[in-house]
Amino acid sequence: MQNLVSMFSKNIVLIGFMGTGKTSVGKIIAKKLNRQAIDVDAYIEQKQGRKIADIFENEGEAAFRQAEKAAVEEISKMENVVITTGGGVVLDKGNIENLKKQGWIVALTATPETIFRRVRNSKHRPLLKSHNMFLEIKRLLAERKPFYAVADYTFETDRKTAGQVAESIIVKLEANLT
Ligand code: S3P
Repeated sequence: MQNLVSMFSKNIVLIGFMGTGKTSVGKIIAKKLNRQAIDVDAYIEQKQGRKIADIFENEGEAAFRQAEKAAVEEISKMENVVITTGGGVVLDKGNIENLKKQGWIVALTATPETIFRRVRNSKHRPLLKSHNMFLEIKRLLAERKPFYAVADYTFETDRKTAGQVAESIIVKLEANLT
């Protein structure tokens, strides 16, 4: 039988801080619901033929945010897809307006300790290159907390596998459709 959520064309949009598992969870949801997963960062990298870190390094954050905004505008027009975003997508009001037009916004959260554990060895996150990564995570997380509150649903990911988080999201979306 066709899954209930997959019968609706609304997109499922994952937002949240770096290291909350958006991309992994999004891929699992997409597979389970037979949808395509579109990752905003991967979309930009493919379009520009270079890594996000390269854009930050050579042109700065503002240029990246511009590319991110253009990508979000295009991706938001798709239907029936799972969209995974970069942690800073929420900083631009227009991005959220676009993503909300035909999408449920689902925020993933985690404590600074969990995030640090997940991203400490990551080499591709330009915003976390600071001398004290843990303090930088705490600072940025506090600054961005109000922005993630735009979500329709919020899921905590501490001590959970990506599969468990994906399952809870599907169950919740389905419950709200019945
Ligand atoms: C960013 C998060 C990154 C990426 C870029 C900026 C941010 O994505 O978009 O490095 O501002 O939080 P992830 O959240 O997938 O790491």
